[in-house]
Amino acid sequence: MKVIVCGAGGMLATDVSAIFSQRGHQVTNLRSEDLDITKLEAVRAKLKALQPDLVFNAAAYTNVDECESKPDLAYQVNCLGIRNLAIIANELNAALVHISTDYVFGGQGNKPYREYDPVNPRSVYGKSKLDGELMVRQHCRRHYIVRTAWLFGYYGNNFVRTMLRLAKEQEYLRVVNDQRGSPTYTRDLAKAIADLVDKPTYGTYHLTNSGNCTWYTYTQEIMELAGMNNVKVEPITTQQLSRPAERPSYSVLDNYVWRLDGHQALRPYREALLDYLEEEGLSRRGD
Ligand SMILES: NC(=O)c1ccc[n+]([C@@H]2O[C@H](COP(=O)([O-])OP(=O)(O)OC[C@H]3O[C@@H](n4cnc5c(N)ncnc54)[C@H](OP(=O)(O)O)[C@@H]3O)[C@@H](O)[C@H]2O)c1
Repeated sequence: MKVIVCGAGGMLATDVSAIFSQRGHQVTNLRSEDLDITKLEAVRAKLKALQPDLVFNAAAYTNVDECESKPDLAYQVNCLGIRNLAIIANELNAALVHISTDYVFGGQGNKPYREYDPVNPRSVYGKSKLDGELMVRQHCRRHYIVRTAWLFGYYGNNFVRTMLRLAKEQEYLRVVNDQRGSPTYTRDLAKAIADLVDKPTYGTYHLTNSGNCTWYTYTQEIMELAGMNNVKVEPITTQQLSRPAERPSYSVLDNYVWRLDGHQALRPYREALLDYLEEEGLSRRGD
């Protein structure tokens, strides 16, 4: 297949591009400087010239707190940019894979959210991503919308890397213990996406690694697996942290459709975390 990766400079996109290439697809990577998805005519010209079978989009305005103070930019990228891709992909009869987020849910629940559960985003980021989903459903016939959460990967800044850096700089870490989710390794997600597009089973999917934790218990695991047990980790509440954007307190995603379609659940996040730490040269495995 001819595959175009939009937002190709990002953390998830880099792993997705690699896996598609490994599987023999012809991949063109478009970073933000190669294609700004908010420009409809630029999207049309670029995609028409490349004639893709599949467009993978991870381009997004992902700074959740900044979205609160720059809602126009959030909507321009996360909603209208996606509309542009959806319209042009449909014109070319290409399939579109679009990445969305657990932030489309309100987060007041206590059991894993399924794909068809009611949404209720509480932040500008979550609202703009949900409206991006609607654009995909409305404008592109052959689409896969993949909601994921709590990503960590080698090619971007992520929570694991931040905590390990802070652990070297500070005597103790204060981490929220009232938000629960499923950490997800971009490499595992990229493989699942490559499997997903093998079949024309279009629609909405939840894809995360198995298991769940709070940011606090996750941090304890990170420190343990990286052999930094001496770092003190203190649980705090979301209120104590006081960030501009509201976060869902519970956003575990049930990978329901994926399972019903006969796919194997993604492995436990702890196993994935070990592999990631090894890639970073930080794992205690083999000590
Ligand atoms: N990270 C998470 O924990 C998480 C959780 C759930 C869902 N997601 C979703 O997963 C996807 C990938 O996330 P990620 O963390 O890998 O993202 P990322 O590393 O922040 O990458 C996003 C990319 O989008 C590009 N971009 C921004 N505006 C653009 C525009 N107008 N046109 C073209 N490209 C543009 C950025 O380029 P520049 O850097 O040059 O601006 C960047 O390379 C996103 O859709 C995100 O909403 C992420």
